[in-house]
Amino acid sequence: MTQDDLYEAIFRRKSVRKYALGKLDPTMMEKVVSHLAELKPLLPEIRTEIKVMINQDVKGMFKVDAPHFLAFFSEVKEGSPTNAGFMMQQMDLFLSANEVGSCWQGGPKPIKESMGASELEFVTLMAFGPPAEDIHRKSVAEFKREPLEKISNVKGYDDLLEPARLAPSGTNNQPWFFSGGNGAIHVSYARSMIVDRMNQISSGIALCHMWLAANHSNKSVEFRIDRSADANPPKKYSYVASMLIS
Ligand SMILES: Cc1cc2nc3c(=O)[nH]c(=O)nc-3n(C[C@H](O)[C@H](O)[C@H](O)COP(=O)(O)O)c2cc1C
Repeated sequence: MTQDDLYEAIFRRKSVRKYALGKLDPTMMEKVVSHLAELKPLLPEIRTEIKVMINQDVKGMFKVDAPHFLAFFSEVKEGSPTNAGFMMQQMDLFLSANEVGSCWQGGPKPIKESMGASELEFVTLMAFGPPAEDIHRKSVAEFKREPLEKISNVKGYDDLLEPARLAPSGTNNQPWFFSGGNGAIHVSYARSMIVDRMNQISSGIALCHMWLAANHSNKSVEFRIDRSADANPPKKYSYVASMLIS
């Protein structure tokens, strides 16, 4: 599985909410577990851990009845939800590219007994398993997403922003805004009383799609916190990070 396979999955993936009875085939499960060690972090200084759980380990609203779950734990630091979104989206695309169903789970949480004694904080879950429904979209027209003009004022870089536009988000609220141009794309998310943390996770997912798109077109990129972009986010948005493109 190459990074380009993950890039291709951006244009076909969808949330899978119906799962076949039974567990994932053990060889595939081994591939999933070994891919966890390959994930690139957005913020490498944040310590993280991903645990594989079973259905009974997880409870809560909007839970899908999948046999397996990935639970993301993180050190509590600025940017940790965005980093979680960036890393776990690599798993969502990996699963989709391998014909395994997956669905982000912002509602449910691991039960107390499954949390373990980790000093890291629980951030989010992703359900996965053998699908019992279509796992891929047939075309980009099937994505319900806002047009690029509504979520970006960047000139150029549509090749990087179109994949970000197609990213999944909690309740499909697409809480991101892209600004900048001339070698930098600044990412901001819509502040919210209720779903602020979920919106930060979603902005990390969009950054993951931008990063894979940049790799796909052989652009060299770095992630930075740009202090002037940080001080001037669009109204009602908070700045997350910038992708510098050379
Ligand atoms: C951070 C996050 C949390 C989500 N939480 C849930 C959830 O709790 N239950 C659920 O069924 N779907 C959940 N979703 C899936 C979204 O509803 C879905 O991604 C969105 O509607 C777009 O559809 P698509 O993934 O099929 O493209 C979540 C997605 C994200 C990114």
